[in-house]
Amino acid sequence: MERRRFGLRHVCALTLLLVSLCPLRCRANWMWLGVSSPGVPEELGCAGLPLSPRQRDLCRRKRFLLPSIQDGARLAVAECQNQFRHERWNCSTTQDPSVFGFELTSGTKETAFIHAVMAAGLVHAVTRSCSQGNTTECGCDARLRSGGLSAEGWHWGGCSDHTQYGTWFSRRFIDHGVRNTSTTRGGHSLVSMNQHNAEVGRQAIDRTMSTDCRCHGVSGSCAVKTCWRTMAAFGRVGLYLKERYERSVQVWDRSKRKNKRKDPRRVPIDKHQLIFFNKSPNYCVEDRRRSVAGTRGRRCNRSSTGPDGCGHLCCGRGYNTHVVRHVQRCECKFVWCCYVRCRRCESMNDTHTCK
Ligand SMILES: *[C@@H]1O[C@H](CO)[C@@H](O)[C@H](O)[C@H]1NC(C)=O
Ligand SMILES: *[C@@H]1O[C@H](CO)[C@@H](O)[C@H](O)[C@H]1NC(C)=O
Ligand SMILES: *[C@@H]1O[C@H](CO)[C@@H](O)[C@H](O)[C@H]1NC(C)=O
Ligand SMILES: *[C@@H]1O[C@H](CO)[C@@H](O)[C@H](O)[C@H]1NC(C)=O
Ligand SMILES: *[C@@H]1O[C@H](CO)[C@@H](O)[C@H](O)[C@H]1NC(C)=O
Repeated sequence: MERRRFGLRHVCALTLLLVSLCPLRCRANWMWLGVSSPGVPEELGCAGLPLSPRQRDLCRRKRFLLPSIQDGARLAVAECQNQFRHERWNCSTTQDPSVFGFELTSGTKETAFIHAVMAAGLVHAVTRSCSQGNTTECGCDARLRSGGLSAEGWHWGGCSDHTQYGTWFSRRFIDHGVRNTSTTRGGHSLVSMNQHNAEVGRQAIDRTMSTDCRCHGVSGSCAVKTCWRTMAAFGRVGLYLKERYERSVQVWDRSKRKNKRKDPRRVPIDKHQLIFFNKSPNYCVEDRRRSVAGTRGRRCNRSSTGPDGCGHLCCGRGYNTHVVRHVQRCECKFVWCCYVRCRRCESMNDTHTCK
């Protein structure tokens, strides 16, 4: 009797442990589409992709959006790597389903950026598909079609990007339709943190939109000007979010009681601010368990005082210098008639890599 009870408790504890270790990390992660090759999602189909049951259902109902989901995910992964290419954490991806390794769920600023940029990528790609007329469910912004202030010599025309459908889809797909939890009083859970940051990402698309115009009229006289609203190139959105990342705000993790006294950040959070709970590790040394690659072997810039400077990037460990020889054609001259003669020039470049 006693023994059986013990055994049962044991099993319970084990299950609890697994559930608490696994929750997000082992769960299906749609972000995997961002590291898959073009065409693969269509081949695997909604059932074969690492989606949650809800996402799978949405995928089936909006099958025509599958290429856009992948485009958005790939756009976001590439932009994350572009924005962080000079940083210690360089947004590298892993082979396991977490895609971003430990950072997907670590609750750090990096987690915040990942969720924001992925949600933004989805809005961007779906909206692009709407504007290109690829689906009947959405299209150009009908409110900005003709009309406008002709007194000022221009009017709305062409196709204004309409982010509403893409935003709806991104919310539906990523937030699993979870009711959005209160943001200040009760602290945050990882789910509500991710949800908040994903929303910051979606808003970033709207906030970086601009108006483009084109002139019409006899020989480019600009008698008539047509204007339309257009989303910024995704690189601009990435830059916006990177700035938000630099200024992100630490909030209280409600699952950790003991933080309650120390950092009860109860000030209301601006809805355009990225939030996180946990301080980031320094990302200096390799930590396989957390899939931190470390900065050993990374190229650094000896004359830079920024994050890519050898001092910062190599965490004070020093760096190796390699001389790279470049041979180029140079001092080319046009010789009458008719060829170009060049000299071969050699240059030596020093490259530095972290120890
Ligand atoms: C990030 O840095 C690691 C070395 O620390 C390197 O292996 C990897 O290719 C880099 N990833 C990207 C996306 O630049
Ligand atoms: C729209 O459809 C065309 C033709 O199928 C395709 O080439 C294009 O990539 C699609 N655009 C988007 C944004 O999905
Ligand atoms: C929560 O929902 C409200 C209305 O439903 C919305 O205005 C707000 O942006 C949402 N907040 C977050 C963080 O998703
Ligand atoms: C190194 O940093 C300096 C100063 O920021 C910059 O001018 C230079 O272009 C950088 N060199 C490389 C190879 O990135
Ligand atoms: C090598 O140096 C030359 C001139 O000093 C520069 O134009 C070239 O971009 C450098 N190459 C690399 C790979 O840094």
